[in-house]
Amino acid sequence: MTSAEPAEKLLTPVLSASWDDDRPWTLETYLRHDGYTGLRNALAMPPDDVIALVKDAGLRGRGGAGFPTGMKWQFIPQNDGKPHYLVVNADESEPGTCKDIPLLFANPHSLIEGMVIASYAIRCNHAFVYLRGEVVPVLRRLQAAVAEAYEAGYLGKDVLGSGIDLDITVHAGAGAYICGEETALLDSLEGRRGQPRLRPPFPAIAGLYACPTVVNNVESIASVPPILSRGKEWFKGLGTEKSPGFTLYSLSGHVTNPGQYEAPLGITLRQLLDISGGIRAGHRLKFWTPGGSSTPMFTDQHLDVPLDYEGVGAAGSMLGTKALQVFDETTCVVRAVTRWTEFYAHESCGKCTPCREGTYWLVQLLKRIEAGQGESGDLEKLLDIADNINGKSFCALGDGAASPIVSSLQYFREEYEQHLTERRCPLDPAASTVWAGRHHAHESATEREVHA
Ligand SMILES: Cc1cc2nc3c(=O)[nH]c(=O)nc-3n(C[C@H](O)[C@H](O)[C@H](O)COP(=O)(O)O)c2cc1C
Ligand code: SF4
Repeated sequence: MTSAEPAEKLLTPVLSASWDDDRPWTLETYLRHDGYTGLRNALAMPPDDVIALVKDAGLRGRGGAGFPTGMKWQFIPQNDGKPHYLVVNADESEPGTCKDIPLLFANPHSLIEGMVIASYAIRCNHAFVYLRGEVVPVLRRLQAAVAEAYEAGYLGKDVLGSGIDLDITVHAGAGAYICGEETALLDSLEGRRGQPRLRPPFPAIAGLYACPTVVNNVESIASVPPILSRGKEWFKGLGTEKSPGFTLYSLSGHVTNPGQYEAPLGITLRQLLDISGGIRAGHRLKFWTPGGSSTPMFTDQHLDVPLDYEGVGAAGSMLGTKALQVFDETTCVVRAVTRWTEFYAHESCGKCTPCREGTYWLVQLLKRIEAGQGESGDLEKLLDIADNINGKSFCALGDGAASPIVSSLQYFREEYEQHLTERRCPLDPAASTVWAGRHHAHESATEREVHA
């Protein structure tokens, strides 16, 4: 892939190919787009060959960490006499991350077909979708698609005459970001409060109901049917050597045409901006996230970083969920980081001290810096607290909370210092007054706490 290619040629709509059709969510439309061909091919192969094919294709998990999907399936012990479970993670709550929900809304059968294939491969007879609870229209659409799939013989007893039985349960969560962490998700699915579990044992050995379980992201599973129908060589022909295939990039923020852009892994933000009409008129790029708010931010120096797992890692961040949140020069970086940190403090499950206490203190410090009431030494305190959270928390939510602090101070320390020296937000002086009012209401308590 080179930047000399015409912009629109860089797009490879696969999962999104039918989104502009009339009623793309129906089985009829899905079948018109070659739907359930991958399943028929899979059922003609032994289950282990399906796992080997997905592994050889090089598909990597689209939920954030990029773990090889086929390898995860291979970890499930065979002939152990226990039920095996597939759990699809559709919790999608990370700020900026917005690909699974539109995918389920527009093309739910791509997930269902992928689930049947994955269940066949890992010998699972009961699969679950854990869906973010607030998205009721998506829940209804997914339930309707599951009902359609039962009716057509893709689910239930003796799937397509193969002798395989499979049930799918769609479960709506109650709207907690931590329930996207795979072990918290399993606890929540079992009816307990969603908090991460100690590992080992890993879900592949003792997951749902203490049985071998695969937890995969919606997009990971939905990407499996095209591999089965078009072949691993086709998949490997897209993307880069270590990050093959196509993926959904979610472009949001100060861009002319925000939306989902399905392209090969390794495309750059510069190319995606070319395709999407660029930064909004009259403005310039200031900072952006490559994979949601928990991935270290980038600046305009990073426009040509290949957006694959290796490229983004080498440049000091993570590809994460490929949620490209773009901010122009009108955005105060302290303000954006404060809002994200408030989110992490709110969503911290409270199980471990570094994250529970640390995110609270980060918010206190950031709010007063944003309001122009920070003190010398606050930036060191921010970094010190972030360092006490990062790598020392029980789960990755803590690391995610630390990363915008550390990366924004790396690239925009001057802007933080301006808040301290000018005693106001240089971009939005009104913000200082607003918070000052709120601050007065609990002045003594907050002051005491921040100085403690
Ligand atoms: C706080 C937190 C929230 C997460 N939220 C999600 C989510 O909403 N969806 C998701 O697929 N993975 C999420 N993950 C990652 C999952 O733990 C897990 O790695 C992923 O579902 C594995 O799927 P994959 O291998 O297909 O990528 C989250 C992780 C953390 C630490
Ligand atoms: S890091 Fe935060 S979210 Fe994760 S277990 Fe600890 S308190 Fe809970």
